[in-house]
Amino acid sequence: MTLLARLEPPTADPIFALNSQLKTDTRDRKLDLIVGVYRNEHGVTPVFRAVHTAEERLTEESESKSYRGLSGNVPFNDRIRNLVFDDAAILSRVTTIQSVGGTGALRLLADFIKFANHDATIWISDPGWGNHEPLFKAAGLAIRKYRYLNDEGTADGDAILAQLSEAKSGDAVLIHGCCHNPSGADLSRDLWSAIADLANERGLLPLVDLAYQGLGDGLDADVTGLRLFAGRVPEVLVSVSCSKNFGLYNERTGVAIVIGASADAGDVVTGILQSLARTNYSMPPDHGAAIVSTILADDRLRAEWSTELASMRERILGIRLALAETFLAHTSNPALQAIRHHKGMFSLLPLSAAQMVRLRTDHAVYGTNGGRINVAGLSIDDVPYLADSVLTVLDA
Ligand code: LMR
Repeated sequence: MTLLARLEPPTADPIFALNSQLKTDTRDRKLDLIVGVYRNEHGVTPVFRAVHTAEERLTEESESKSYRGLSGNVPFNDRIRNLVFDDAAILSRVTTIQSVGGTGALRLLADFIKFANHDATIWISDPGWGNHEPLFKAAGLAIRKYRYLNDEGTADGDAILAQLSEAKSGDAVLIHGCCHNPSGADLSRDLWSAIADLANERGLLPLVDLAYQGLGDGLDADVTGLRLFAGRVPEVLVSVSCSKNFGLYNERTGVAIVIGASADAGDVVTGILQSLARTNYSMPPDHGAAIVSTILADDRLRAEWSTELASMRERILGIRLALAETFLAHTSNPALQAIRHHKGMFSLLPLSAAQMVRLRTDHAVYGTNGGRINVAGLSIDDVPYLADSVLTVLDA
């Protein structure tokens, strides 16, 4: 047998595999609530007006597409750093490198953890984003999971702290910065604070996945936990994605951030991150980074972008409220009411994998088997159909 003929197919990605299934579904009414992509009332994932303007400006002004260097677009990195953090003492400890989207930042940081501590284990939330486990495994890290939710579907502080108390010094802990994927249930400020204490006591290395800044309560509100945390914990890693909050999904735009105890380690950290990038893909694509940098550097464009982002956030909130109200007219099931309070794009329905399959086969409503739906992909007109389908499956 030849080499290629011997190969077994890999485990399909739980999110993108469903997308292929959806495409072959010929039913007229089907709801695509799979991938975390924002859609407006017309079902379109729009290009931000501010992005269009920035692109026009770049077309007029760009003189060269020569290499940028191993850290990517440095003004972009600096501006993202200043969007995430606002405190001079923290900013002085920050090292950044541009990444290939948020996933690329996670992979760089996973490689960085492995480089720094060959025996590291990373603790990830359960439930969590479907790509965390395979990504960290691919980087050679051992995985442990901490149960994240209680029966009411909110972050279970006591359980999280108890489980993380088993982590050993040098272990990494993955924390969702805001808009927890898949549940929408975020950490309270007190819980951020308690996890910071625990990380300090046990010598843990937190890695904060920040993929949705601005999609929950607001650009600053969504990072209050992270800012508090970075002020208290000496070493913190952060992966940042611009896919959602700038709508730059296919431009693969992100930043990997390493916060050290002081500015001293900055040059060494930069060198390690650059060499990890160099041996992997050399340099990230520039276009998305140049767009974001142009927007953030210009007060008018920045205000326009922030207003557009706020209107997306408000639309998602409106859908959440409509969905919760529609459920309330038929049932007081608290897990269905929790949707009202979730943050960001996703919510978890209280449905088993078998019920999620049924939702797909009987009603053409597509969420992931873990019960996740992309609320940001729903139109207000589809709310009654979704609610009815969920209730039918729950009662069956
Ligand atoms: C999601 O969770 O649906 C998004 O983050 C898209 C992805 O890459 O999985």
